[in-house]
Amino acid sequence: MDEVTRGARSLVLCPDIRSFRYDLDAKDRLAEAEGLALAIGVEIEHSTVLPIRQMQPNTLFGSGQVENIKIWCEQYECELVIVDGALSPIQQRNLEDRLKRKVIDRTGLILEIFGERAATAEGRLQVELAHLDYQQSRLVRSWTHLERQRGGFGFLGGPGETQIEADRRMIRQRMGRLRRELEQVRKTRTLHRERRGRAPWPVIALVGYTNAGKSTLFNRLTGAEVMAEDLLFATLDPTMRAISLPGVEKAILSDTVGFISDLPTQLVAAFRATLEEVTGADIICHVRDMANPAHAAQKKQVMEVLADLGVIDGATGTSDIPILEVWNKADLLDPDRLEALKEAASAQEAVLVSAALGDGIDDFAEKTGQMLTTKASEVTVTLPVSDGRRIAWLHAHGDVLEEEDAGEGEQGPLRRLTVRLNPKELGQYSTL
Ligand code: GTP
Repeated sequence: MDEVTRGARSLVLCPDIRSFRYDLDAKDRLAEAEGLALAIGVEIEHSTVLPIRQMQPNTLFGSGQVENIKIWCEQYECELVIVDGALSPIQQRNLEDRLKRKVIDRTGLILEIFGERAATAEGRLQVELAHLDYQQSRLVRSWTHLERQRGGFGFLGGPGETQIEADRRMIRQRMGRLRRELEQVRKTRTLHRERRGRAPWPVIALVGYTNAGKSTLFNRLTGAEVMAEDLLFATLDPTMRAISLPGVEKAILSDTVGFISDLPTQLVAAFRATLEEVTGADIICHVRDMANPAHAAQKKQVMEVLADLGVIDGATGTSDIPILEVWNKADLLDPDRLEALKEAASAQEAVLVSAALGDGIDDFAEKTGQMLTTKASEVTVTLPVSDGRRIAWLHAHGDVLEEEDAGEGEQGPLRRLTVRLNPKELGQYSTL
């Protein structure tokens, strides 16, 4: 697929197919498509929902609609048409032919964004692989397309075929190489994660629908300058920083990729890989944009992904990892709703915040601190004073409640310490 030019004057179309069951309504899907388009830096000149009673195999849209699209393209001087849905390669070609403009579909659009945003080696490899997979499917079909142009015969050994065969072979070879590289990167990453798993700090993972405000919250808590923009998928790779919380000297906060509905199949693997971190977290904070009218549907999508990852039991809805809902963008709510949500939040596992303004951040810290320490148990240990390593470890990682001399042992003077440790720390202490 060719690069989409930044600043291209664009038309955004959201097909609303009657026979489909969508999670979000057409208006919200259109708003999301506009967000995606802005994320690749194009200029939206016009956008609209197009109801489709019957899908047309050649163009998706009906012929009258195609005529209208052409008129809009001329009227708004657009050079790019973005269709927020899946177009078959033939439909894409036919639309490009009729409109005399470049047309991209939802998969193409998201691939562009992921390509631009992927920052780690693994992210880049995954995206390139997904891109090639997408291109490969387009090549196969465009072959059919060429063949049809030539009148439907003489397709063996024709120049078009040779070129396409060569392209396909090249793509296959490149994909093979990428898969091997990915395998290598993954091995290294697992090693890193295992190493971090042995580190004594609990991990808090921020998850949420794209644009919910995860990066803003992350920055608020860490003072870090993670890119927080009104751009979808500003964060593609997990970012981690250490923070301290009431009662917890050090915890690792991890920001993850934003979720989105209808993720192109080619990208599901890339997306999952960046979310694996979540499955090892001690707490999951589900950041929600409560000012978005589609917030309930967005929550549903997030819960489905968490179920896919095995964090939530699909049947019972229960989770092994505690989930705290962070109701964000409180500053955008009208006073009545704000009041109602405040009450609802205190009645359940939720905190109401404005990550942008900093309101409710203390509550967030208090709550997560509590969640991490409630499970902690008090233990009393007696150690020889000479065992400086263990004594120092307990001071560094646990909450030392009492410490006193405990007479003489075989190895000299003894100290008795009463310490609060969470189960993870307790496990780590026992392996020291
Ligand atoms: P992805 O990277 O797409 O997953 O997005 P994200 O969830 O990390 O969202 P991000 O923090 O980038 O915020 C998205 C937009 O919402 C930005 O324009 C933020 O300034 C805005 N935003 C975040 N929190 C708040 C808030 O509490 N109030 C208001 N008014 N805007 C907010």
